[in-house]
Amino acid sequence: MAFPEGFLWGGATAANQCEGGYNEGGRGLANVDVMPHGPERRAVGAGLRKMLDFEDGYYYPAQNAIDMYHRYREDIKLFGEMGFKTYRLSIGWTRIFPNGDEDEPNEEGLAFYEDLFRACHEQGIEPLVTITHFDLPIHLIKEYGGWRNRKLIDMYKKLVTVLFTRYKGLVKYWLTFNEINMILHLPFMGAGLVFEEGEDKQAIEYLAAHNELVASAWATKIGHEIDPENKIGCMLAAGTYYPYSCKPEDVRAAQLENQKNYFFVDVQSRGYYPAYALKMLERDGIDIGMTDEDKRVLAENTVDFISFSYYSTRCAADESTECERTQGNAFAGAKNPYLKASQWGWAIDPLGFRITLNDLWDRYQKPLFVVENGLGAKDVVEQDGSINDDYRIDYLRQHIAAMRDAITEDGVEMLGYTTWGPIDLVSAGTGEMSKRYGFIYVDRDDAGNGTLARSKKKSFDWYKKVIATNGEDLS
Ligand code: BG6
Repeated sequence: MAFPEGFLWGGATAANQCEGGYNEGGRGLANVDVMPHGPERRAVGAGLRKMLDFEDGYYYPAQNAIDMYHRYREDIKLFGEMGFKTYRLSIGWTRIFPNGDEDEPNEEGLAFYEDLFRACHEQGIEPLVTITHFDLPIHLIKEYGGWRNRKLIDMYKKLVTVLFTRYKGLVKYWLTFNEINMILHLPFMGAGLVFEEGEDKQAIEYLAAHNELVASAWATKIGHEIDPENKIGCMLAAGTYYPYSCKPEDVRAAQLENQKNYFFVDVQSRGYYPAYALKMLERDGIDIGMTDEDKRVLAENTVDFISFSYYSTRCAADESTECERTQGNAFAGAKNPYLKASQWGWAIDPLGFRITLNDLWDRYQKPLFVVENGLGAKDVVEQDGSINDDYRIDYLRQHIAAMRDAITEDGVEMLGYTTWGPIDLVSAGTGEMSKRYGFIYVDRDDAGNGTLARSKKKSFDWYKKVIATNGEDLS
């Protein structure tokens, strides 16, 4: 058998991209709510255009998203029908603590997720919970400056204590921060950072990263103390950087880019700052405010497993190298001439998936959990209502085959695989609905029009078969 028994097949979503109900159930406002659809989204996400409230003339897709807040039972039933073993979802921080710094949590928010987890178990689905997926109370940004402020470590500790206590027995798999390395690319989205004129952006990003890393270690400690059964993982936006050529300067450029990403998991998995990061901080005069207690907490509370998203590999070139550059997604780089790209310019590289799996396994020797993979594509609804998304099936088939090879041929140890957006949801990068990843279609467009009705695409039955055969039948 290629995939181990008990392999956790499923799908992954994030609260702000699917729930909606932004002002219901006592929920407070979050950074992700105020990220508009349209050309300014990227600047807002990068912390370069300050937008901390809804402004006139913009459309904010997270306000209603795909209305999962009201439809989760119906949606989870469909996941159950596909045979999901796990469903990865995230907690909206502001449903639990609307401002982030209250003493008592909001019962309505806690009850919402409790029922959602129960709905999963009724379908035989193990929840996999991301504690924060690009999600931070606006109040903590306005009052404290987001994750640049150490006080957020305490707010986060309070949040996780409430979650681990309340959901003991209902949730076993946890991720502390989604794509923690996103701080370096979209710092408002990743850490609630907004930069003022003249600020040292890099210094603030690493300060915020340190605070998140320490908070993540505390969460691991608290989670294990409350329930030793808890398995707690980190989460990286992965995708190995290839050198554009074998020119040593290109190879070095790729090495540096890889280190920028590995830095986070190096700390979370090994428990200390790697030498190259310490040198960089020293060289650039960055003080992250490391205390002795931080060092101890980091060292004693490393993660149980490594989770990551994989959409594509990346390519790095030295500045002197002549090549086409791309800004396909949040990660800029050289354009790989050997690879085709998606409709949104993301390189498609199944072999790169196997390479990335090997790189992470070699480096950490801890079980890997792929918690995002998939193809964002435009779908066409035929006259009879059917959606023939063969391109999505092809993408997933090739990637699952590459993952199978990594397990059977290379000996990579894995816990599971969840595709991104098993149901169409709002794109984090662009705010669009038309960038669809789902097996389940949602009738909603980029401007928020549509009935929100759900329907199955061709890929629905295909993935169902993949899961039923534990990955044996990919045809
Ligand atoms: C990851 C995020 O970066 O990629 C998700 O964790 C996101 O939140 C996914 O949706 C796909 O990116 P996009 O921009 O196509 O939504």
